[in-house]
Amino acid sequence: MNILILGSGGREHAFAWKIAQSPLCTKLFVAKGNAGTATVAENVDLDVLNFSLIADFVLQNHINLVLVGTETPIVEGIADFFAQNQTLKNVKIIAPSKEGAKLEGSKDFAKIFMQKYQIPTASYQTFDENNLAQGIEYLSTHSTPIVLKADGLAAGKGVIILEDRKEAQQTLTEMIVGKKFGQASTKVVIEQFLKGIELSVFVLTDGKNYVLLPSAKDYKRIGEQDTGLNTGGMGAVSPVPFADEIFMKKVENQIILPTLKGLQTEKIPYIGFIFFGLIKVDDAPFVIEYNIRMGDPESEVVIPRIESDFVELLDLAAQQRLSEAKIKISEQFATTVMLVSKGYPEEYEKGKIIKNLDQVQNAIPFQAGTKKVGDQVLTDGGRVISVTALGESLQKALEKSYLAAKTIDFEGKYFRNDIGQDLM
Ligand code: AMP
Ligand code: GLY
Repeated sequence: MNILILGSGGREHAFAWKIAQSPLCTKLFVAKGNAGTATVAENVDLDVLNFSLIADFVLQNHINLVLVGTETPIVEGIADFFAQNQTLKNVKIIAPSKEGAKLEGSKDFAKIFMQKYQIPTASYQTFDENNLAQGIEYLSTHSTPIVLKADGLAAGKGVIILEDRKEAQQTLTEMIVGKKFGQASTKVVIEQFLKGIELSVFVLTDGKNYVLLPSAKDYKRIGEQDTGLNTGGMGAVSPVPFADEIFMKKVENQIILPTLKGLQTEKIPYIGFIFFGLIKVDDAPFVIEYNIRMGDPESEVVIPRIESDFVELLDLAAQQRLSEAKIKISEQFATTVMLVSKGYPEEYEKGKIIKNLDQVQNAIPFQAGTKKVGDQVLTDGGRVISVTALGESLQKALEKSYLAAKTIDFEGKYFRNDIGQDLM
């Protein structure tokens, strides 16, 4: 099978690393990829939102399967484009439909969906410019903290949590009238604050059947002890020790199965990943958010724990035959530590030489923001390399991740020293 992956982060390097090991994979391309994907696949300079150029490439290179890693082409309807284009009819694509993508692309849509299918989530109300006055009024008696969410995609920045009602009223106005997050905040979801511990659960689904992938916990804040600005993710661990069998049964019964039933009832085609951003409140799981793709850096710990042939799983999903799939998961712990550029998630410099990549032992440096220039690998983003290791215990995996995190070097390198500490 010839396979094309769309995306260029650490998640896509992890996908490419795994897929390249499959005997079912003949030729592997990544668009646009990075210096890491180039070590296991061929990078192609294709804009992931230019569907007609992607179609040309797919046909010219006899691509059999397209795996869409990143959300933007999914939200823009790449799966529908493939389904409607006669010449692409036989090309398999792992990406939910545009309608399914609303689970991530519109918080309001996701909340309505969860309410309709009785999926546990925080209670909420949605406001826009037509009922802004009611929104202000609603906030005047709302319990605190107050959670304000831009309805649309806001590059992970659209959630604001405030202690003060007045400040929340002002922020609501800034979001809706001041277009704080552009089009994404013309509607705002205000929801109840849930207190608990977060985790991420993933499935690969064909819209009807699913395989449960390993669970993970990521570390979103830039600073140790979860302080400072939100980032795309500074590290992750898998499995999540508190997500035991009893808890995961609740997740399957109360969240995963009703979500799939909802998709079927609404006749929403969905072939791809569902990322359930969950919070455990006492012993009960609640959905904080849906994503329609794998997480990053969660993929960097989830994928290495999958022992089954990943291409076979993707192929069965694309053919809506996932009921035939069996997934084998490693018993080992996986940890990943993200090396980032100084200044991230605010302004940072690119183009720093990355040293000692070849000295890494007992760990997998999944590359994110990197590019190859001549013989050198340079930093090319805020999140640069996610250093993954496996071990019999969380501690052992972390030791290997941290040894490699210290070995790899570039000017301005920063990483959190406390990944996984809260779980030990
Ligand atoms: P999201 O972009 O929806 O993942 O939200 C970003 C972060 O905001 C989440 O990872 C949570 O830490 C926090 N958050 C979102 N919604 C809630 C909520 N209802 N209660 C508490 N924390 C929340
Ligand atoms: N690490 C969180 C995400 O991928 O959205």
